[in-house]
Amino acid sequence: MKILLLGSGAREHALARSLASDPATSDLVVAPGNPGTAAIATNLNINPAAPGEVVELATRMGADLVVVGPEAPLVAGVADDVREAGIPVFGPGAKAARLESSKAFAKEVMRAAGVPTAEAAVCSTEAELAAALDRLGTPHVVKDDGLAAGKGVVVTSERAAARDHGLACLSREGGRVLVEHYLDGPEISLFCVCDGATVRPLAPAQDFKRLGDGGAGPNTGGMGAYSPLTWAPDDLTERVVREIAQPVVDEMARRGTAFIGLLYCGLALTSDGLRVVEFNVRFGDPETQAVLARLTSSLPDLLLAAASGRLADAPAPTWSEQAAVDVVLAAPGYPGTVAAGGAVTGVEEAEALPGVHVLHAGTGFDDDGRLVAAGGRVLSVVALADTVGSARDRAYEAVSRIHLDGGQYRTDIAAGR
Ligand code: GLY
Repeated sequence: MKILLLGSGAREHALARSLASDPATSDLVVAPGNPGTAAIATNLNINPAAPGEVVELATRMGADLVVVGPEAPLVAGVADDVREAGIPVFGPGAKAARLESSKAFAKEVMRAAGVPTAEAAVCSTEAELAAALDRLGTPHVVKDDGLAAGKGVVVTSERAAARDHGLACLSREGGRVLVEHYLDGPEISLFCVCDGATVRPLAPAQDFKRLGDGGAGPNTGGMGAYSPLTWAPDDLTERVVREIAQPVVDEMARRGTAFIGLLYCGLALTSDGLRVVEFNVRFGDPETQAVLARLTSSLPDLLLAAASGRLADAPAPTWSEQAAVDVVLAAPGYPGTVAAGGAVTGVEEAEALPGVHVLHAGTGFDDDGRLVAAGGRVLSVVALADTVGSARDRAYEAVSRIHLDGGQYRTDIAAGR
């Protein structure tokens, strides 16, 4: 199978690793990729969010499958154009991608599908925003309706901060903002592979979104993750599929916008029961790095079955009994203005540890060919071991072998929920 994978983060390096190591894959091109994917596949530098460039490359290489990593190409309609060109693509069309690109749309679909989520008000004016903050109370949860590169959500007990964030969202052209009731309880990410009708869940994982230990500091794209969640209810996955993912996939099909791709269910296990925090329409980062480390069945076969509408006939994914812990190393300044260019050393030493692999995200090479930081999240350090505790110890032993001046990482990934 010839596969074109779009994206350049650690998520894509994890996807590339699972795709490239499978005997079903004969050829893997990553566009644009990163130094990690260059070591296991062919990187080609096109704009992954330009539908014409992607169709041209997929056609030229004779791709049997296109896998879309990030949300931007999906929102730009890349999957629509690739599908139109007759090439199977794992990723929803732009209309179905609205489940991620408009939080108000996602709420409307959830309401129609009877899916449990937080009460919310969609606000278009300052007066509506003020009324919603009063009505829904503290902590205030204020979300930009549109995509905001991980900076769209503010959770705060300070009304002024909630109002300021809401006003900043409203100030954008056509800006809308959601004010939601706060959901208590631990958060869980469950990825569901979908072919427009059938849903196949992957293993649940947990993401650590804030920069600092104990959930202190600003929100980030995610500072680490682990799987499995030994504390989660045994029937969690089955319930999420039955009560959330399948009704949403059915509702999208009913609307004529079939959901083909990865439905990322961001959930809270609240004192009132399971609630959806958000949907994304692509693999999550950094959860994918932990989840795929445990996958023992074929990823290319699974994604091609979904892209071809044959998921009902495909075997369910299988999982290692081992646990995976993924710790993100970020550059100084992240998630604000990042100081790039710092030398990154010790990756080989980290990978010399049993069960450890290191995934690249914001890395590059300087003029002397040395590995340097070139983005916010620089590396994901992944460790597999028999228990979550031993995987965690191993991951941190590996992180301690890597050096980046001013590099930031959390020390409590997988230490509790
Ligand atoms: N882990 C959060 C995200 O992928 O959006």
